[in-house]
Amino acid sequence: MQAAANPIAERISTISVSSTMRVSAEAERLRSAGGDVVDFGAGEPDFPTPDNIKQAAIRAIEQNFTKYTATGGTAELKKAICERHRLDFGTDYKPAECMVSVGGKHAIFNLTQALVNAGDEVVIPSPYWVTYKDVVNFAGGRCVFVETDEDLGFAVTAAHIERHLSPRTRMVIVNSPSNPSGAVADRAEFEKILRLTSERGIYLMTDECYCHFLYGSAPFSIASMPGVKDTVLVAGSLSKTYAMTGWRIGFALAPEPVVGAMMKLQSHSTSNPVSISQKAAVEALRGPQDSVAAMLAEYRRRRDFVVARLRQIPGVRCAEPQGAFYAYPNVSVAMGANGIRNTLEFSERLLAEEQVAVVPGEAFGTEQHVRISYATSMKELDRGLERLHRFIVRHS
Ligand SMILES: Cc1ncc(COP(=O)(O)O)c(C=O)c1O
Repeated sequence: MQAAANPIAERISTISVSSTMRVSAEAERLRSAGGDVVDFGAGEPDFPTPDNIKQAAIRAIEQNFTKYTATGGTAELKKAICERHRLDFGTDYKPAECMVSVGGKHAIFNLTQALVNAGDEVVIPSPYWVTYKDVVNFAGGRCVFVETDEDLGFAVTAAHIERHLSPRTRMVIVNSPSNPSGAVADRAEFEKILRLTSERGIYLMTDECYCHFLYGSAPFSIASMPGVKDTVLVAGSLSKTYAMTGWRIGFALAPEPVVGAMMKLQSHSTSNPVSISQKAAVEALRGPQDSVAAMLAEYRRRRDFVVARLRQIPGVRCAEPQGAFYAYPNVSVAMGANGIRNTLEFSERLLAEEQVAVVPGEAFGTEQHVRISYATSMKELDRGLERLHRFIVRHS
């Protein structure tokens, strides 16, 4: 038997394994070997999916709603998504401008594949969610990273973006609240960014994955501004809002031709999102919303605890996250002269020496930070931060 000369297609070399998943896998390996691991790596709610949503899925199975559906999601679900977005943000999307995908990540993948040509530039504020880089590279685009200011809590401004626009810019991606920093774009700045992109015919993708988890301001969508539907692309997800990460339901709200293009792609890859999850998603969007407020209240309590506790560690700085459920402390005090060369090494040694899993900042485009997910219990936060404190003091 002769092995293929180039066993893997070249385009796969443009992407790398998600480092968030790598940390979780290593933490899982240690745990199954009997280790007492505190996992701050996971980017998902620790709450169960609310019961009314689970019951809707059970009904879907009992009623044999278990076959293929329309590629871009059922009419019922697309309508429910548009209605929810209108109620929450005052937008006016029609089902024809909506497409349901297998999670928000898939919606972002579809949008990028449908819109980015080889050589197009995509402007991405840094720190950024890992996936943007890989999906843009996979489409043959070129990422243009925009450094934000740690002293301003990493919030992106129009001035940051403007400096990086060029005739080749195809798209700007704004993720507010941000994974990994929890930064929230100031509304006036976001509107300025919109003006910059819409007057140049550049797409503005707004990743609203964490849009309901805001600590200091009301939920807002840039898509609610008048006359913006030609260039604004909403990437949405039910994963975090309704603690439904495993159900894999996300969506895009976009101009009809863009939806048509994504539909072509999806029809040849996943076909439709899971029928049962779609029924559950309708219930999530139309049913009681109090679980969202309850989760937010709990995240706020944890955010306050985590930030205060991190700031007790000598030399550690931590911008206060304004949304999502991540803290992004600067741990450079334990690097450089002290033998730890970068945050990847920091994370590996923290896991090996103290059995605490965090995600290295290099995965998100910065060199002095680690991401701590506080979507875990207060008890785990307390234990893990105690160990982190010990580790940093030992290595400073
Ligand atoms: C910023 C951001 N966008 C989108 C997603 C996609 O989530 P999902 O594919 O579970 O809907 C995530 C998940 O971690 C995220 O952090």
